[in-house]
Amino acid sequence: MINQQKTLTKKGKMVVICSAKGGIGKTVLTANLSVALSKKKLKTIVLDSCFQFGNIHLVMDLKPMFTIKDAAEHIGDLDENLLTSYLTQHKSGVKILPSPLRPEYADLITLDVLDKICTFLLNRCDYLLIDTTAGLPEHNLYFIEKADEIILITDLEMTSLKNTKSMLSVLKALNLNQKVKIVINRSTMKSLLKVKDVPKILEEEALLYIPNHFEMVSKSINIGIPFVMHYRRTELSKAIFHIADLLSKDA
Ligand SMILES: Nc1ncnc2c1ncn2[C@@H]1O[C@H](COP(=O)(O)OP(=O)(O)OP(=O)(O)O)[C@@H](O)[C@H]1O
Ligand SMILES: [Mg+2]
Repeated sequence: MINQQKTLTKKGKMVVICSAKGGIGKTVLTANLSVALSKKKLKTIVLDSCFQFGNIHLVMDLKPMFTIKDAAEHIGDLDENLLTSYLTQHKSGVKILPSPLRPEYADLITLDVLDKICTFLLNRCDYLLIDTTAGLPEHNLYFIEKADEIILITDLEMTSLKNTKSMLSVLKALNLNQKVKIVINRSTMKSLLKVKDVPKILEEEALLYIPNHFEMVSKSINIGIPFVMHYRRTELSKAIFHIADLLSKDA
């Protein structure tokens, strides 16, 4: 009976947004992708796993009352209802679990805490998006091993591509490459490396692209309104909706 109930329970999909190098566009993609999924009437929660300097709440202009620190401090008696009360809702319908508001609290977020939180959140949504820090620290490894989908984002800089290739080889060694979608951010930026050369460099054919639009992205971050909210028909937003379509088609 318990097993039967488990199989009948609809569980959300976990999507991890990661990169080998920092400052590549993970948070911008996470915020906009969450809104795009929410516009498709999919219940979407974002967990900000940049536990020291997370800023998804700023990019979405939210002033959280609670953060993941509150969940960690009450982990013993945490249940789905208590955890849900710690989420902050954006006007798009997206709910976020922000990172602690001060970096010194990051150490409270252990893997046991994350495991309990992710299990509860996945019971309450269609999509759980995880905005990560760069690289492969222990908690990122936890997320990518638990993920249904891994979005690995890079740009056209040689260092980003080199590190992305190394990260891909780790994901392949862990047998996780089937779950990976590679996104080339700022794909139209001026660069010595041409976008057409990327498949050969990464030895990957199936790539997704987000165009470069510094002005729109920068303004969107600074006013705290994800660009997909108001600029639906731009190439930038279309690229995000395309990724949302692919994720929901795979579901
Ligand atoms: N498609 C884009 N076009 C132009 N600029 C972009 C684009 N995407 C991101 N940026 C710029 O890149 C910067 C870094 O973006 P973001 O904060 O999302 O990166 P990140 O990977 O989350 O960084 P970190 O590793 O520090 O968390 C932003 O300030 C933004 O202006
Ligand atoms: Mg970030």
